[in-house]
Amino acid sequence: MRVLGTLFENNKKWANKIKESDPDFFTKLSKQQSPEYLWVGCSDSRVPANEIVNLLPGDIFVHRNIANLVIHTDMNCLSVLQYAVEVLKVKHIIVCGHYGCGGIKAAMDNREHGLIDNWLRHIKDTYHKHQGRIDALQTEKEKINLMCELNVVEQVANICHTTIVQNAWKSNQELTVHGWIYGIEDGILQDLNVCIKNLDEISRIHRI
Ligand code: CO
Repeated sequence: MRVLGTLFENNKKWANKIKESDPDFFTKLSKQQSPEYLWVGCSDSRVPANEIVNLLPGDIFVHRNIANLVIHTDMNCLSVLQYAVEVLKVKHIIVCGHYGCGGIKAAMDNREHGLIDNWLRHIKDTYHKHQGRIDALQTEKEKINLMCELNVVEQVANICHTTIVQNAWKSNQELTVHGWIYGIEDGILQDLNVCIKNLDEISRIHRI
């Protein structure tokens, strides 16, 4: 018996189900992908990009990492961003965080977690920036959840500060960067209303 047999069985059923409603689905998709969206989300298993917005394969280009961070020295994330913007010409980039994020929780405590502390350090910087507002909240849960939102806003800015996005705007490419947050407790997405679609909306020092 094949190792992880259930997953292969699941896959066969899934592919057949799609082919039942659209026999040419995979053939068409094999020729090209033209997604309109780039999704930057958390690796958390409870926040699967395609499922929560009910989109099919081919609809959404995805990058996920712990706590949905966009770090300007992360070649992995930047390569995804460059390909999505310059080749696929996505119209929307969505940074989607989620409440109760384990990465945010880990960054907010003062324990050592090993290698990952180098990654979480970026979240600590965001906390430091907004410390007064966060510390004014009563419960730990409220603090974590506000940090989850502020972290999204920070990553939206980080995306807008890249030359990739700025060059797209300069050449009048239609491109909007959004900040969303997902509730793992109710399955509901919320728009954090940080829609950025041109150079004038980013801080002067970051304009290139
Ligand atoms: Co998370």
